[in-house]
Amino acid sequence: MARLKTAVLISGRGTNMQALIDYCATSDAAAEISLILSNVPDVPGLDRAAEANIPSITVDHKLYTDRESFEEAMTQTLEDHGIQLICLAGFMRLLTNTFVDHWRDRLINIHPSLLPAFKGLDTHERVLAEGVRFTGCTVHYVRAEMDAGPIIVQAAVPILPDDDPESLAMRVLVAEHRCYPHALSLIADGKTRIVDEKVMIDEAEAPGIAFLNPID
Ligand code: GAR
Repeated sequence: MARLKTAVLISGRGTNMQALIDYCATSDAAAEISLILSNVPDVPGLDRAAEANIPSITVDHKLYTDRESFEEAMTQTLEDHGIQLICLAGFMRLLTNTFVDHWRDRLINIHPSLLPAFKGLDTHERVLAEGVRFTGCTVHYVRAEMDAGPIIVQAAVPILPDDDPESLAMRVLVAEHRCYPHALSLIADGKTRIVDEKVMIDEAEAPGIAFLNPID
C-alpha cells in the first residue's frame, strides 16, 4: 500500500524530525518522510535530513515581504512534492489562518506541555514557576489559535525537585520522541477520526491508572 507522504517542517536542531525519520525507516510504517522544509538556512536538522538521504529545502521567511507570500511558497513546494500530511517539529513561525485552513486536518504539531496548559514560548520556565508536579507534551492537529487543536497523543512527565528548565526540557524531549512517531503511526494507519473537534482513536488502549508525584 502507498505510504502517507509526510513533510516535516523545522526551524532548528530537528530531534523530533529524527524520531519521525527513524519511525518511518521501520518496515511496518505506513508513512514516509518525503520532504524536510526549514524556514531557517543551515540548521542542524538539515544535516540530519542529508544523512538520512531525505530531500530538504529551505524556504527562508526573511526573503519574503509578508507572511502570506512566505506561506504560499511553502504550500507550493509541499504540493509539488505531493505532501499529504505536515508535521511541525520545532517550527517556530506562527502560521496564518489561510495556511492552517488550507491544510486543515493534514497539519499536526508537537508542543512541550500538557495542552491546553502552558501554550507559547518559555514553557518549562513557566511550568517550574507554577510549581506543578507534572508537565508533558502534546501532539495535536493545528487550528488557527496558537498551540490549540484536537489532541492526538499526550505524555505526562513528572517534575523533580532539582529540575531547572534545561533538565526538564530534556526529560520532556524523551517523551516527545515517543509521542510524535506514535501520533504519526495512528494517522498513517487510518486510526484517527476528528469528531466534534476531538480525536477518536480506533483500538486505542489507555493506561487506566493514576500516577502520584510525590509517590505516597
Ligand atoms: C521541541 O521541544 C518542540 O516541542 C518545541 O521545540 C522543540 C524542538 O526541538 N516546539 C515548540 O515549542 C512549538 N511551540 P527539536 O528541533 O529538537 O525537535
